[in-house]
Amino acid sequence: MLVSAKDMLQKAYEGKYAVGQFNINNLEWTKAILLTAQENNSPVILGVSEGAAKYMSGYKTVVGMVTAMLEDLNITVPVALHLDHGSYQGALDAMEAGFSSIMFDGSHYPIEENIAKTTEMVKLTAEKGISLEAEVGSIGGEEDGVVGKGEIADTEECKQVAELGVTILAAGIGNIHGKYPENWQGLAFDALEDINNATGDTPLVLHGGTGIPGDMIARAISLGVAKINVNTELQLEFQEATRKYIEAGKDLEGKGFDPRKLLAPGFEAIKAGVKEKMELFGSVNKA
Ligand code: 13P
Repeated sequence: MLVSAKDMLQKAYEGKYAVGQFNINNLEWTKAILLTAQENNSPVILGVSEGAAKYMSGYKTVVGMVTAMLEDLNITVPVALHLDHGSYQGALDAMEAGFSSIMFDGSHYPIEENIAKTTEMVKLTAEKGISLEAEVGSIGGEEDGVVGKGEIADTEECKQVAELGVTILAAGIGNIHGKYPENWQGLAFDALEDINNATGDTPLVLHGGTGIPGDMIARAISLGVAKINVNTELQLEFQEATRKYIEAGKDLEGKGFDPRKLLAPGFEAIKAGVKEKMELFGSVNKA
């Protein structure tokens, strides 16, 4: 059964580790992540962007696939199905379809409007017993065609949004989606510390987990980050493994063209990537 991300993230925040949000794209992605979570006895959050949900046919298809997979694969670790960077309408639709966790990303609105809409979302998610992630200060890079500047969130605004009663808060601290550029300045730890002090016991979320070095991850966790989002890195690992398979001509040997064979190296690469992140984030054996 899908669960709200609230308990797993409160435990992580108190225990000074983080739970990974791994974005899914299809059945292989989902199965690889769920099996790895079970093998490592780790809680896990499956992230679904609006674009990925659309790609997979819609929110109901995603909920159907994931809930059935939990049963068929005997997954017993806590699993949350989370809408990533949801719009207002997307959040309503995902909730209706049975997602157990929602991100309402109002960071592109003026703060008053972000607060007004997030307040409504607090009420709606509370009625359904599901967790809510809000965002202040946009995360840089591109996500589903939306390009953010990677600003540093305003501490006072973070405090205001945390006090609305959101489960978790994503705050821009110089992190960006996708690969980090050569001249990236690193995470803004002073800002993170201020935000963590201002937001009480609300766990914080680190977006753009791809390519953040281990020492920065550890420091971010020590400063209140309890959820780390990883998307691009798994895509790159899947791509590299698939490329190797084809470049080695394995798709031309015997039944190497069978999708179950063609996608197998990528599947294993996702499993290895997720395991590595779970170890780095400290969520192994925390189910
Ligand atoms: P990356 O693609 O940089 O790992 O970011 C993922 C993310 O933050 C999803 O919200």
